[in-house]
Amino acid sequence: MIQTVSKTFFHSLAGSNQLKGLASKYGLRNERSFARRFIAGETVEEAIEAARPIEAAGMSQTLDLLGESVASIAEADVATRAYLTVIDKIVAAGIGRNISLKLTQLGLTIDRATCVDNLRRILDAAGKHDFFVRIDMENSPFTQVTLDVFETMWQQDYRNAGIVLQSCLPRSVKDAKRMNELGARVRIVKGAYKEPRAVAYKDKAQVDAAFMEIAKLLMSEGTYPAIATHDPAMIAAARAHAAQHKIPSDRFEFQMLYGIRRDLQAQLTAEGFRVRIYVPFGSEWFPYFMRRLGERPANIGFVIRGILSER
Ligand code: FDA
Repeated sequence: MIQTVSKTFFHSLAGSNQLKGLASKYGLRNERSFARRFIAGETVEEAIEAARPIEAAGMSQTLDLLGESVASIAEADVATRAYLTVIDKIVAAGIGRNISLKLTQLGLTIDRATCVDNLRRILDAAGKHDFFVRIDMENSPFTQVTLDVFETMWQQDYRNAGIVLQSCLPRSVKDAKRMNELGARVRIVKGAYKEPRAVAYKDKAQVDAAFMEIAKLLMSEGTYPAIATHDPAMIAAARAHAAQHKIPSDRFEFQMLYGIRRDLQAQLTAEGFRVRIYVPFGSEWFPYFMRRLGERPANIGFVIRGILSER
């Protein structure tokens, strides 16, 4: 209940242009600014610098140039070209080659064919340099079309891409089976968006139970799944499943978000598990940041401390 209210509250704030303007001005201004805990910076250079210590600590990363729901074909083209530059800069920097992106950033809400063309441009460039490209999952109006676009690319032999499924949606069990059939790599998450009752579980216990059901399905029958959560109960259940079914630790990875549960990230790495950190960056960080606050209002504490420490 509390979680639903806070999700609703922060999702509504995420739509405020005034707040966005104010936050964007101060949130990443310097190393101590309040959004730094969760956002690596505005530029790809800053994201690469954030990725280096992650790799030095034995983890891997995926860089995500933040942005969603662009309003024109021109903006989608700008985002696509920005990703092509990100690919070049990652290659030049010599860090791990893995990126995450959103289809509405590439123009999905404006014109599906343009979005597919843009995705193809990115996958072609990524393929040349041996990158893996994760297509993030957005809110439920985009679930089917995201899976359709993914499968279209898969059928055209783009195998350097993977998808995300959300356990808050009852449909995801069936989608996971389909992805296992294809041999596609899936990241399982609980789901970050506020969803209508008609399509999503409202009860956290159901979301958690579905997460474990899908995680087990992916670990036992899928291809190198990513178990993306900070929830110790989910992580313990995944570990127990791997131990019980003798699934080696190099057949799956845990994923966590930059700045969240850094203790757990280090602990799993020390215990020999693969851990990948999702490193978000870019000027369009406000909606992502508000989703993180909505998940854990206690994070407001970091923000307030950050703002006060700037005075
Ligand atoms: P849950 O929210 O149930 O929290 C369990 C515990 O984790 C908390 O008690 C707390 O200890 C810790 N925790 C969780 N969130 C925290 C926070 N913000 N700050 C501090 N502690 C926190 N979603 C989506 O819809 N589409 C996507 O493509 C992705 N992609 C993605 C990639 C990766 C690598 C991760 C880790 C997550 C996503 N998500 C996502 C987000 C995901 O759906 C979900 O909203 C968050 O991971 C929070 O859910 P948890 O599973 O962590 O548990």
